[in-house]
Amino acid sequence: MKSDILRQRFIDFFESREHTFIPSSPMVVKDDPTLLFVNAGMNQFKDIFLGNKESIVNSAVNSQKCLRVSGKHNDLDEVGYDTYHHTMFEMLGNWSFGDYFKQNAISFAWEFLVKELKISEEKLYVTFFEGDKKDNLKSDDETKNIWSQIIHKDKIVPGSKKDNFWEMGKIGPCGPCTEIHIDLRPDIEIKNTPTLDLINKDHPQVIEIWNIVFVEFNRNENGTLSLLPQKHVDTGMGFERLCMVMQNKVSTYDTDVFSDLITSISNIANVKYGNDQNTDIAIRVIVDHIRAIGFSIADGQLPSNTGAGYVIRRILRRAVRYGYTYLNLKTPFLYKLIDVLVANFRNIFSDIDVQKSMIKNVIKEEEDTFLKTLGKGLDLINNSLKRNKTKKINGADVFELYDTYGFPPDLTELILKEKGLSYNQEQFDKEMEKQKKRSRSASEINVGDWVQVNSISIDGFVGYDYQSHAAKIVKYRKASVKGHDRFHIVFDKTPFYPEGGGQIGDTGVILPPEGHVNPEKSTVIDTKKENNMIIHVVDNLPSFGPENSMETYMLMPDNKRRQLIARNHSATHLLHHELRNMLGNHVEQKGSYVGADYLRFDFSHFEKINQTQIIELEKKINNLIIQSVDLKEFRNISLDEAKKMGALAFFGEKYDDRVRAIQFGNSIELCGGTHVANTAEIGFIKIIS
Ligand code: SER
Repeated sequence: MKSDILRQRFIDFFESREHTFIPSSPMVVKDDPTLLFVNAGMNQFKDIFLGNKESIVNSAVNSQKCLRVSGKHNDLDEVGYDTYHHTMFEMLGNWSFGDYFKQNAISFAWEFLVKELKISEEKLYVTFFEGDKKDNLKSDDETKNIWSQIIHKDKIVPGSKKDNFWEMGKIGPCGPCTEIHIDLRPDIEIKNTPTLDLINKDHPQVIEIWNIVFVEFNRNENGTLSLLPQKHVDTGMGFERLCMVMQNKVSTYDTDVFSDLITSISNIANVKYGNDQNTDIAIRVIVDHIRAIGFSIADGQLPSNTGAGYVIRRILRRAVRYGYTYLNLKTPFLYKLIDVLVANFRNIFSDIDVQKSMIKNVIKEEEDTFLKTLGKGLDLINNSLKRNKTKKINGADVFELYDTYGFPPDLTELILKEKGLSYNQEQFDKEMEKQKKRSRSASEINVGDWVQVNSISIDGFVGYDYQSHAAKIVKYRKASVKGHDRFHIVFDKTPFYPEGGGQIGDTGVILPPEGHVNPEKSTVIDTKKENNMIIHVVDNLPSFGPENSMETYMLMPDNKRRQLIARNHSATHLLHHELRNMLGNHVEQKGSYVGADYLRFDFSHFEKINQTQIIELEKKINNLIIQSVDLKEFRNISLDEAKKMGALAFFGEKYDDRVRAIQFGNSIELCGGTHVANTAEIGFIKIIS
């Protein structure tokens, strides 16, 4: 069964059982500081699970692009060496949002595997959560009993918290899970070693294929569990593994998900897959990594020196290095695989098709740069060896490679290993610590748990219509930012714009009600969005107690500052519009900064724009400004309507079904920001860099 058909069968199965298909969210996470990349299908539904957002459907089905390369779930080091780990993979999932629970979730899964796909029951085993003392959780006997109606009791295996209690990360929604495992070994091997001895033991042929999580709890910052308002179902089935089962292969890399990519890199390198262990590893690394790299760039994450961008750069460099050393590829080669990748996946993830040439260009440039660095790095290692004359090279040299040449330490380690060498980790760590102290980042934030003040519903942002507004406190928490004590407050409604879409957060003041025991105002230093909530970062907490928790505060953003920001935001739209007019429709916004003082606009184009073009651009934008074009705002229209109007959307952005479009003449963009009412308010723009 071809992978495309298999995916569709899964979707059809659940659609015919009243599930709504929801497209994959982008793989790069934008507004959740606890997560860089989507690591499970449930990430995009986190807010629904936590009760911060209401779901418009009761149950859903999807195939989610996931990346497990950092944080709690990290498989990077395994990739290539075995035949079934991946950085990026697709997760098929069905979802219940406070709707069905254990009985139906289990029945659906069984029916799909055994009746729909006709996988032999004999091969299947299941696990359930045995309970955990520390978390004060009992054994999940309900699940065990449901399974015992379906499958022989000897094939129902208890599992510990490690395997059978699923958590997204350090904090967040979680719950006990039941997994379905399959034994793909030939009968003779099964006779010699029973399946039960190999479950959850990393055997490449005895593998978990489906995980069904009963989401009931939230893991708090302090490690405790609290019950969620509703019970939900989160399931995840490894798509590549299912393809392996259905295509009778012994490795995910042998399925049609990877076969075209493997053929392509084999041709480029003139090496046959399956002939040599080292070249096979390199080929698996490359075909795995190109998916992670290609889809991340398509989802808006360019390789860079920090955060998620650095993770992508590291993956890319890891792939280049394997090609360089084992496949003798000394010139850029990764970008040549993009055509095949796009051809294979354009049906399900169409964003990658539209951005094909940009993705190729970005990868090629990265490869070029690194291949230069690679040479220099190898020289540096050799010099260090000459100086040291020992088997352990100086950790400070490895740090210099990392810091100055962007040479990931795991890569240096790999190169040294081949020569039977290593480096002094302690020296490296010391240098790293010094560096960290130097640049202890401005974003370092520690937060405490939320304290719920009252349970009124959160209406969110009212700042398009109001310059100030009365509101009640819903919850607050303590936060420490760069060693300063702060508080985060969530109100039931707010005129404060939270940082987003490049636009900085509002600042201002919060006034207590008149005659309040403590007439002190609080200063709002910043406003941010987290998991769909608007968070006011304040210097002190307005005083209130349980007896006056329903008191009304006056929320007053600094509107002078906000007007300056609005001017820059509207100017950003005009700039974007004129850039596309001038350079072509391949120009995509890749990020922006919209502040009170200036704006910055990042975009994709293949070359530097020259001085003549810059002057022309300025002229055109200023021309639009003096035409005094009125703002047209379309609030709460459907995404389809907006697209029909020709509204520009960001790739890698997950839009709700209802969106807002901002129009100034021919410039139409999906945008949540604040804008001037008429372009004339912008005044004048000047491009300074
Ligand atoms: N969240 C669970 C997992 O990732 C099930 O989807 O395994």
